[in-house]
Amino acid sequence: MGMARQDRLVAAMLALAVCLLLPVAARAQLRVGFYDTTCPNAEALVRQAVAAAFAKDAGIAAGLIRLHFHDCFVRGCDGSVLLSVNPGGGQTERDAAPNNPSLRGFDVIDAAKAAVESSCPGTVSCADIVAFAARDSIGLTGSVSYQVPAGRRDGRVSNASDTIDLPPPTSTAKNLTDLFAAKNLSVEDMVVLSGAHTVGRSFCNSFVKRVWNQSATPPAAIVDAGLSASYAALLRALCPSNTTQTTPITTAMDPGTPNVLDNNYYKLLPRGMGLFFSDNQLRVDTQMAALVAAFAANETLWKEKFAAAMVKMGRIQVQTGTCGEVRLNCSVVNPTSSAATIELLGSSAPAADEDGNGIAAS
Ligand code: HEM
Ligand SMILES: *[C@@H]1O[C@H](CO)[C@@H](O)[C@H](O)[C@H]1NC(C)=O
Ligand SMILES: *[C@@H]1O[C@H](CO)[C@@H](O)[C@H](O)[C@H]1NC(C)=O
Ligand SMILES: *[C@@H]1O[C@H](CO)[C@@H](O)[C@H](O)[C@H]1NC(C)=O
Ligand SMILES: *[C@@H]1O[C@H](CO)[C@@H](O)[C@H](O)[C@H]1NC(C)=O
Ligand SMILES: *[C@@H]1O[C@H](CO)[C@@H](O)[C@H](O)[C@H]1NC(C)=O
Ligand SMILES: *[C@@H]1O[C@H](CO)[C@@H](O)[C@H](O)[C@H]1NC(C)=O
Ligand SMILES: *[C@@H]1O[C@H](CO)[C@@H](O)[C@H](O)[C@H]1NC(C)=O
Repeated sequence: MGMARQDRLVAAMLALAVCLLLPVAARAQLRVGFYDTTCPNAEALVRQAVAAAFAKDAGIAAGLIRLHFHDCFVRGCDGSVLLSVNPGGGQTERDAAPNNPSLRGFDVIDAAKAAVESSCPGTVSCADIVAFAARDSIGLTGSVSYQVPAGRRDGRVSNASDTIDLPPPTSTAKNLTDLFAAKNLSVEDMVVLSGAHTVGRSFCNSFVKRVWNQSATPPAAIVDAGLSASYAALLRALCPSNTTQTTPITTAMDPGTPNVLDNNYYKLLPRGMGLFFSDNQLRVDTQMAALVAAFAANETLWKEKFAAAMVKMGRIQVQTGTCGEVRLNCSVVNPTSSAATIELLGSSAPAADEDGNGIAAS
C-alpha cells in the first residue's frame, strides 16, 4: 500500500515477467475445490446459470462446450475468448472468423459471473467459469460428471490473429494431429474430443464447399469424398450456393439427437454423415479410424475418455497464482491500476484504488 503508481506498475510488470519465466513445476497447480473456502457456492451458482439458459435453449450447452475449447486453444484457458475489446487495439479473438458469428454462450457466462460477483466479489475468474459451464453442459446433455480442477487466472490479451491455433473444418488428418500436438494433446485426445460434435450446430459456410462448387458458373452440385449422396442433397437443399460467412442458416451436426451427448458422432462418420471435411478425415487415417470404431462400439468407454480429455484440455497453458488477474467483467480486462494492485497484493480486491486515479487510498 501507499506505493507510487510508477512503483506499482514496475512491480506488476516484474510479477508478469516472473510468471512467464517460472518453470511449469514451480507454478501453482490447478486444484479441485479451489473456491471451497473463498467462494463455496461458486460452482453451484454457475450450474444454476447454465441450467436456466439450457431450459430456454438446449443448444446453449453445445455453445458452452465449444467456448471452453476455443478459450483453451488460443493463449491457454485464460478467458481471452470472452474479451470484446483488444486492449492493444485491433480485432479480438471473439471477432475472428472461427468465432464470429458462430460462437455462443457469452451471455450465460456473463449471467454466471454476475451471480458469483454478487456472492463473492472479485474472486472467481472468468476462465474458471467457462470451464465449470462446459462441465455442467456435458452433465446436462450427457449425464457425464467430472470434477474441474480450478484456479485459472484471466489473461489480458486477445488478438484475432492468435485464432490461427484453432483447427479449421478444412483440416487434414495431419493438420489435426499437428494442431492438437501443439497443445500437448495426442491423436487419441483429438479423436475423443471430436465426439463433442454429437451436440450442436454449424453454419452453412463451414461445409458448403463439400456440396457446392462455388467457383463454377453457375455453381455446380458436387459430393465431397466420404460424404453420402443423400446427405449431400439434404445439405444442398438447406444451404444456398451463394453461402458466405454471414449466411444465417445452420444445421445440427447430429441430426437425430442434436442435444444429447451420445456416441452418435462415431456412428455417423462411417455412414458418410460427418459434416465437415475434417470430421471425415478421422476415417481416412487408420489410427484414427480404429479409435472411431472403438468409440462407436462402446459409449461408456468414450464418455470416460471424454471427461478425462476435457480435464486435460482445461489445463492448457493456464495462468495461476499471482499471474494474470481475476477479471471483474468478463468482456473487458481490469483497469491497469487495479490490475497492478491485484498482482501486488496477490488478492482480487481492487478496493485500494476505487476511483481509478492510480493512487491508493491508504
Ligand atoms: C478436431 C478439430 C475440430 C474442428 C475442425 C472443429 C470445427 C468445428 C466447426 C467448423 C464447427 C461449426 C462452426 C460453425 O457454426 O460454422 C464446430 C462446432 C462445434 N464444435 Fe468443433 N471442431 C473441432 C474440435 C472440437 C472440440 C475439441 C470440441 C470440444 C471439446 C468441439 C466442440 C464443438 C461443438 C460443441 C460445436 C457446436 C457449437 C454450437 O452448437 O454452438 N469441437 N466445430
Ligand atoms: C496481434 O498479433 C499480430 C501477429 O502476432 C501482431 O502483429 C499484432 O501486433 C498483434 N496486435 C495486437 C494489438 O496485439
Ligand atoms: C495443413 O497442412 C497443409 C499441408 O501440409 C499445410 O499447407 C496447411 O498450412 C495446414 N493447415 C493448417 C491449418 O495447419
Ligand atoms: C507442452 O509440453 C512441453 C514440455 O512439458 C512444454 O514446454 C510446453 O509449454 C507445453 N505446451 C503447451 C501448449 O502446454
Ligand atoms: C469447380 O469448378 C471449376 C470451374 O468449372 C473447376 O475448374 C473445378 O475443378 C471444380 N472443382 C471441383 C471440386 O469440382
Ligand atoms: C443468394 O441466392 C438466393 C437464391 O438462391 C438469392 O435469393 C439471394 O439474394 C442470393 N444472395 C446473395 C447475397 O447473392
Ligand atoms: C466398454 O468400456 C467400459 C469402460 O472402459 C468397459 O468397462 C466395458 O467392459 C466395455 N464394454 C465392452 C462390451 O467392451
Ligand atoms: C461489461 O463490459 C461490457 C463492455 O464494456 C459492458 O457492455 C457491460 O455492460 C459490462 N457489464 C457489467 C456487468 O458491468
